[in-house]
Amino acid sequence: MNKQYTYQEYMDMIEARLCSFFAIPADDALHGFAEAARYSLLAGGKRIRAILVLEFCRICGGDPEGALDIACAIEMLHAYSLIHDDLPCMDNDDLRRGKPTNHIVFGECTATLAGDVLQAEAFGTILRAPLPDEARLRCATHLADAVGFDGMCGGQYLDMIGEGKALSAEQLDEINSRKTGALIIAACIMGVSAALGTSEQEHAAAQFGADIGMAFQIRDDMLDVLSTEGELGKPIGSDLAENKNTYMVLLGREKCEIMVERLTAHAVAVLEEQFTDTGFLKALAENLAKRKS
Ligand code: IPE
Ligand code: IPE
Ligand code: MG
Ligand code: MG
Ligand code: MG
Repeated sequence: MNKQYTYQEYMDMIEARLCSFFAIPADDALHGFAEAARYSLLAGGKRIRAILVLEFCRICGGDPEGALDIACAIEMLHAYSLIHDDLPCMDNDDLRRGKPTNHIVFGECTATLAGDVLQAEAFGTILRAPLPDEARLRCATHLADAVGFDGMCGGQYLDMIGEGKALSAEQLDEINSRKTGALIIAACIMGVSAALGTSEQEHAAAQFGADIGMAFQIRDDMLDVLSTEGELGKPIGSDLAENKNTYMVLLGREKCEIMVERLTAHAVAVLEEQFTDTGFLKALAENLAKRKS
């Protein structure tokens, strides 16, 4: 069994490495632009996607230090998705991670470009990572698939055109598996890929990611109603204000709780069938199921 890490140790590694990106000097004309990208990249967050990369790499026999840039890349991609998600033309939110959203601080144009540059740098960071060619290729392909039509962007589009319409549970699952699930699945598979793991390991990691990803969005929808702005660091009632289809609207709180529990238990069972040394990921899945922010 290779060296184990705590959540905090992973967080420290990720934060330290993320700080090194977009370090453009103050006297450069692009400094303000870099500041906008860094604002969202370094604004905090749970870093669960990055941590999934590192831990899946570790349980497949890889070195998490070597996969650190892959982990940072997915956080860049995620930060881009959040900046654009908060824009007035999308969810129109003014608070993220307890701070004013990117467009509130830097304006809509710079915020849009900050999202764009974070996306480009995410792929560049994977392609320059200190890993074998095959690992970098696999990671970049998984990330591209997770962001494109079948992934986050497709899901965000469906989420937007579904506003104000009564959707079925299947349609809502379709939206959420793309807009949120795809990136969480990619994080798990990219960890396996960084360690050059097997296709069986990728398959199990994807199944685990699909289950915790779905549970994650159900919990997110619950918190949008049940939490407080102070605790969540995001506005409460944003979904209602934008006429979103959510699991809270479709199923109600009790059924949401049951679904989160079931999905989490299934995720853990799938994981334990394929991997040993699963304690960290089991605890992570269980903590996410009852998260408050
Ligand atoms: C928020 O993701 C967006 C969703 C997919 C629901 P997170 O809850 O992981 O956001 P941070 O990174 O911790 O702020
Ligand atoms: C968006 O889901 C997921 C993304 C692709 C960013 P939400 O719109 O529910 O995420 P929050 O609640 O704003 O974080
Ligand atoms: Mg949204
Ligand atoms: Mg939103
Ligand atoms: Mg939400």
